Amino acid sequence: MDIFTFTSSAWNVRKKAETTIIWTFCTTICDATKSITLNALDITLGKVELDINGEILQPSNISYSTDNETATLTFVQELPADASGVLNISFAGELNDKMKGFYRSKYFTPGGEERYAGVTQFEATDARRCFPCWDEPAIKATFDITLVVPQDRVALSNMPEVQEENIENNLRRIRFDRTPIMSTYLVAVVVGEYDHVEGKSEDGVIVRVFTPIGKKEQGLFALEVATKVLPYYKSYFNIAYPLPKMDLIAISDFSAGAMENWGLVTYRETFVLVDPKNTSLMRKQSIALTVGHEIAHQWFGNLVTMEWWTHLWLNEGYASFVEFLCVNHLFPEYDIWTQFVTDMYTRALELDSLKNSHPIEVPVGHPCEIDEIFDEISYNKGASVIRMLHDYIGEKDFRKGMNIYLTRHQYKNTFTEDLWAALQEASSKPVAKVMSTWIKLKGFPVVSVESIQKGDNQRVLKLTQNKFTADGSAPDGDYTWVIPVNISTSRDPNKIAKTFLLDQKSMEVVLDDVSADDWVKINPGTVGFYRTRYSKEMLEKLLPAVRDMVLPPLDRLGLIDDMFAMVQAGQASTAEVLKLIDSYRNETNYTVWTAITNSLANLHILISHTDLMEHFNRYGEKLYRPVAESLGWEVREGENHLDTLLRSLVLSRLVSFRCKDVIAEAQTRFHAHADGSNPIPADLRSACYKAVLQDGDEKIFNEMLQLYRTTDLHEEQDRISRALGCIGNVDLLRKVIDFAMSGEVRAQDSVFVIVAVAVNPKGRDMAWEFFKDNNQKLLQQYQGSFLLTRLIKYLIENFASEERAVEVENYFKQNQFPGTERTVSQAVETIRLNANWLKRDLDSLTSYLKSQ
Ligand code: BES
Ligand code: ZN
Repeated sequence: MDIFTFTSSAWNVRKKAETTIIWTFCTTICDATKSITLNALDITLGKVELDINGEILQPSNISYSTDNETATLTFVQELPADASGVLNISFAGELNDKMKGFYRSKYFTPGGEERYAGVTQFEATDARRCFPCWDEPAIKATFDITLVVPQDRVALSNMPEVQEENIENNLRRIRFDRTPIMSTYLVAVVVGEYDHVEGKSEDGVIVRVFTPIGKKEQGLFALEVATKVLPYYKSYFNIAYPLPKMDLIAISDFSAGAMENWGLVTYRETFVLVDPKNTSLMRKQSIALTVGHEIAHQWFGNLVTMEWWTHLWLNEGYASFVEFLCVNHLFPEYDIWTQFVTDMYTRALELDSLKNSHPIEVPVGHPCEIDEIFDEISYNKGASVIRMLHDYIGEKDFRKGMNIYLTRHQYKNTFTEDLWAALQEASSKPVAKVMSTWIKLKGFPVVSVESIQKGDNQRVLKLTQNKFTADGSAPDGDYTWVIPVNISTSRDPNKIAKTFLLDQKSMEVVLDDVSADDWVKINPGTVGFYRTRYSKEMLEKLLPAVRDMVLPPLDRLGLIDDMFAMVQAGQASTAEVLKLIDSYRNETNYTVWTAITNSLANLHILISHTDLMEHFNRYGEKLYRPVAESLGWEVREGENHLDTLLRSLVLSRLVSFRCKDVIAEAQTRFHAHADGSNPIPADLRSACYKAVLQDGDEKIFNEMLQLYRTTDLHEEQDRISRALGCIGNVDLLRKVIDFAMSGEVRAQDSVFVIVAVAVNPKGRDMAWEFFKDNNQKLLQQYQGSFLLTRLIKYLIENFASEERAVEVENYFKQNQFPGTERTVSQAVETIRLNANWLKRDLDSLTSYLKSQ
């Protein structure tokens, strides 16, 4: 495909886009053929003409394959090899409600009138729902886009407009500049009513943020991030952003979080809009990460694109790494690299320890297989192994290699190996050898360490690697990773004492200057993508360093996460790890508390299947109370970002542990909030909402709905509707599900409300029954969307018995949900892990909790 022209006036709110779309492309025929096959789905071709050197040919037949998502044009005469031609196609498609392809998105005018915008979302394989094309990332073309829209609508596309004229019927024709050569999945148009704020980056790129009418101030934060990050990336990659403008736009109906269309990045409202009075710091932080992520794709993905979806991780893993570079640069006070470990890294380890995980690089063909790999392996593990590589070759060579890679492959497509080659060239280190094990192998290693003191001054370590398995079973094969290992010691906890490659099963290393009293920590900074199992003596030496916080935060965090995983795998007992947690009572670091919280959340699921809840709550209360008391309820003047995050974390934990005085305080604050006399700061609202809801009655439920209905901030609606899931009363919970499906909640959000019900032990069975009763409706709404995958995962993975595992397994054998197969297997595996864990540890857990 060379040039591609697309004219559309299908912005219309009618569902069938009646207006003809004319599409022209120039191409060269390689081999003589009688037929041309293009991708097309849910569109109907009208007049088709092929112009080869002035000779006009019309196909004798047009046939469609829904399975292959194609249309085939058959000609009577053979089209000669090497001929160049222009194909003109008129066609009509549907402006659908599926949040993919070319779809309509509902919004309300400030006066409350319901209207629709026309929006595109093409990744991964939905450009073909908008226009016929060769819809593969490696088939790049330039695009000339023209839109015909009502005169009072904003019309945007990847490039700036170059010509516009008013035409009949109050319409306006807008021609956009030709795009650079690019993949179809990055093409975009938006037509609707928007306000915007505008700025210019230091390096001359025009940046605009489009918001709903009347809310342009809410675009200022994203504008600041975007204008600052463009020059930062320019200097980081040493390549300028190639387009003259960069638009960011908030779309009211949006399935994913954000999409990196070249020059026109689309966002869910909650992933871009900041209302200073009502946006939580957590949300703001995640908006900064999201903007950083999508803009990173402008280089990594848009300028250089993966050859095929098998290499998706190149896009997503890499952008998920770079978003942290961006936020670290713009907001050093967020300490974002520490948060990387709980946000990305530990979540990747958790999923990747399952038998039903997959290698980062995975063969995919059909669109539903492609959709399924937008998961924690491509994103979180991808980002984590890049971080490990960055650490291994160092910042300077990493940047140099990135520049080689991006310059060498710009406007083209790549395989994973092309990235290794560039980084290897820059660093002179064996990048391909080290990295290929992490990309091609499923799972990750656990490194077991034993140590022997030699004389006063030397420690001999023996390290052995094995594949880590979530259930502690023997691995299904012999795996050896090439692991860059770092070691630190108590001589200087912040310095790397030794670094080497563990590229065999087992190895001995000698540490100098280590006395018998010194501790030794493997994987300082929790950078390597592996777990560590210490001998008993080594672990015991580390505990005082945890207690005194001499061990750096990322090491305290890694230790607890590894320990918990060993417990789940049956290699340590739950009571043992709870004792370890005792060493964290003085903890002050937000991210370490997040790690503890995540681990306890897994335990909470188990406990919810027992009668130990009350004991567990008391245990939790005792653990979190000191830190909550030191923070108090009020933000202190000039307090740091992480303390604000920590306060909302611990208060919401104490609410869930049913801590009486905290709940009472939250209730008081809620009443002052609801009557408007004293609004709760956004960071504490979730905790307060949950405090009143978990034991709340119908009156509170209605009061919450009232709050939902009066806010026009999407973030606030999310906060309220998700808090509803923690209601304790089963009849009310049923009403929450009805509300989620009522149409009052957008389809993009209902899934999360149902998930909130499903993760509440009281709603677990109800949500699962609801799913089974409504499977066709849900399938129709969400098929091929990761929203369906999410929903299924959370509905089932918190069960904890073999009977449930069998039931769920059979259900999904009898009922097909294409594109969710792997998720179902993973969740069923998790149910069995829960069941075994519970069986194994119930007795010791009972006696430990009762003794507290
Ligand atoms: N390219 C994706 C958007 C996407 C996701 C398209 C799934 C098709 C299917 C985009 O760059 C992305 O990764 N978005 C994330 C948010 C981001 C901050 C991690 C998302 O939508 O969750
Ligand atoms: Zn992405």
